[in-house]
Amino acid sequence: MADFYDKVAKKFGGYAYGTNKVKYTSEYPDGAPEEIFKEKLLELANPSLVALDIGCGDGKFAFEISNYFSFIHGIDTSRELLSVAESKKKTLGVANVDFKLEDASKTSFPDNSFDIAYCRRGPSFYKEYYRLLKKGGCYLEIGIGERDCVDLKKVFGRGQGYGTWNESRLDKDKNEFTRIGFKIIFAKAFSYSEFYDSLGELDKFLQGVPIFEDFDSDQDRDYLETYCKKFETPKGVLLPRQRVVYMVQK
Ligand SMILES: C[S@@+](CC[C@H](N)C(=O)[O-])C[C@H]1O[C@@H](n2cnc3c(N)ncnc32)[C@H](O)[C@@H]1O
Repeated sequence: MADFYDKVAKKFGGYAYGTNKVKYTSEYPDGAPEEIFKEKLLELANPSLVALDIGCGDGKFAFEISNYFSFIHGIDTSRELLSVAESKKKTLGVANVDFKLEDASKTSFPDNSFDIAYCRRGPSFYKEYYRLLKKGGCYLEIGIGERDCVDLKKVFGRGQGYGTWNESRLDKDKNEFTRIGFKIIFAKAFSYSEFYDSLGELDKFLQGVPIFEDFDSDQDRDYLETYCKKFETPKGVLLPRQRVVYMVQK
């Protein structure tokens, strides 16, 4: 996985910078999950609190919200993304954020280190996050739902979480949170639609995300054409997405 993100960082100079240039529109019948996650995080934020950004990538999000916290520690396993984050930190002159190479499954931080921990589409090692939070501290996550891009994965015959689309991530995670000792404050799955302007735009998108870590524009061309023919709509090529959003308390 770290190799994939290192490759993306080298190619696009960061994590989402390549995919940001992709032309697509979104429709959110139940609200936009990224916005809901951020709203919930900022409702808890306070300039006296210290937060942990798990799987911080190139640090873009940590910089965006750094004013709301006393300090944010970003951790990630991709050296390349961390080095982009460090150079952005210098350029932006942000003093209250730092970045560290750490595997989120077993970090070097002492117990009860953080007021808040959050994760945007990164790893989910909830037992470790429980250990790291102070009593009363909250963990927030926006994660990828089991039904994200299912039809695309079916056409390709592979992909992230291939074949697990009938196992509810929401139910599994809620059980795990409870078993570990977290109190669930909010947990919801959001289904929504993206419409890509063309096959070329969907291709560009797939190059920058880990849906198929081995995606190859040339070798996967037939699959992409098959998918685009099947899911062409007047609004563009439909890609059904799914996210889960959690807020739990220690
Ligand atoms: C989808 S990217 C999201 C990056 C960033 N949170 C954002 O919102 O732009 C997932 C990130 O999780 C990191 N990651 C994956 N497994 C990890 C692990 N075990 N420990 C720490 N970071 C990890 C990846 O290197 C990558 O930067």
